[in-house]
Amino acid sequence: MTRTSRLPGFYKVTVNERRILVGDTTGCDPRELELALEGGGMDAETADKFVENVLGTYGLPYGVALNVRVNGRDHVVPMVIEEPSVVAAASNAARMVREGGGFIAQADPPIMIAQIQIRDVRGGAAAAAARVLEHAGEITKMANGAVGGLVARGGGVTGIEARVLAEDMVVVHVLVDCKDAMGANLVNSVAEIVADRIAELASGRVGLRILSNLADKRLVRVRCRIPSASLATDEMSGDAVIDGVLNASRFAQLDPYRAATHNKGIMNGIDAVVIATGNDWRAVEAGAHAYAARSGRYQPLAVWSRAPAEAGDDLLGVLELPMALGTVGGTLRVHPAARLSLRLLAITDAQELAGIVAAVGLASNLAALRALATDGIQRGHMGLHARAVALAAGALGGQVERVAAMIVEARDITLEAARKALNVLAAEEGDAASLVND
Ligand code: MEV
Repeated sequence: MTRTSRLPGFYKVTVNERRILVGDTTGCDPRELELALEGGGMDAETADKFVENVLGTYGLPYGVALNVRVNGRDHVVPMVIEEPSVVAAASNAARMVREGGGFIAQADPPIMIAQIQIRDVRGGAAAAAARVLEHAGEITKMANGAVGGLVARGGGVTGIEARVLAEDMVVVHVLVDCKDAMGANLVNSVAEIVADRIAELASGRVGLRILSNLADKRLVRVRCRIPSASLATDEMSGDAVIDGVLNASRFAQLDPYRAATHNKGIMNGIDAVVIATGNDWRAVEAGAHAYAARSGRYQPLAVWSRAPAEAGDDLLGVLELPMALGTVGGTLRVHPAARLSLRLLAITDAQELAGIVAAVGLASNLAALRALATDGIQRGHMGLHARAVALAAGALGGQVERVAAMIVEARDITLEAARKALNVLAAEEGDAASLVND
């Protein structure tokens, strides 16, 4: 087995052939892929154990991003998403990044924040906060007692912070190293166990006890460098593409309306991998957007710059955001497709997963900005749509691509245009056949 994520022509073969190729490169048995993924990866009986009032399951496409190299390791990255082009675009951008050496990722230790709100504080909030901090050792011991298993695995409380929100309100943060768990349950247990004692120390009443999704102690950073030549299109030089990407990055920095869409493009990639690995994508979304707004002004999560001329004029990208992911517990225990995803990725821990997820986010952003700076986003979308229209018009085999190309070229992606194109092709094929028959 040679572990590579570079599988040229992958999109051209059948679903079964793709399973074999992915099996070859990841060491997973293609049968295992089939079993885990047929029927959406979960039956109704299993779904009934997840949530309430279950009627069935709801399928989404499960694809893989190719060409992804993070910190020198190749990964075939599972993505669950309904939007056309995202998987192809991420794979294409990852191929360009690969030409510059791949992504470099670094994730903070997996520290989550338990928030304990204390209300109706008497005698001043600042003094209350100070009293809580004086008892940090006692609170730590109490909290660790609630998560003995985690402490045994090397995790547990790493710090206590107190913030004054108003003269009568303090919030205490208990920082918990969750190791390879996303940590919501662990952190919520911690918040509940220490709340009464904290309220006593603060001379106030217990308010809310819950984790914060602004997981800013658990950031991931990923960067990449793309040689200018790798970005060129048939019509535009690499340098002109870099110029367009930098313009898009600056636009997002100057305008929250654009920053929201810029970040949506990043989350296209991130959410798809987060879902495929059985993680809580609402938590990741909440953290991402709260982090984007941390300065008081909503900002792009990824920014692009040009390397100095003496360093090669390449395009440089960086992305930073909170990434609360688990590789153990929760959904993973019961969801066969989520478990399969982790096996395909062959990662060692949640921090490595965070780096891969962020890399796919940065790739998705690059793909979107490059498309916007060159052909516009519709051309790629239209190409895929055209294939669907060609199929609907009755095109078969090699005809699909040819009919799609003809209607895209004519800028008329309708069933009628596809039928006409198919007739033209059929006539040509008929001529060719009659020439052969002659
Ligand atoms: C579409 O899902 C995402 C984009 O709008 C992102 C962007 O504009 O950067 C293409």
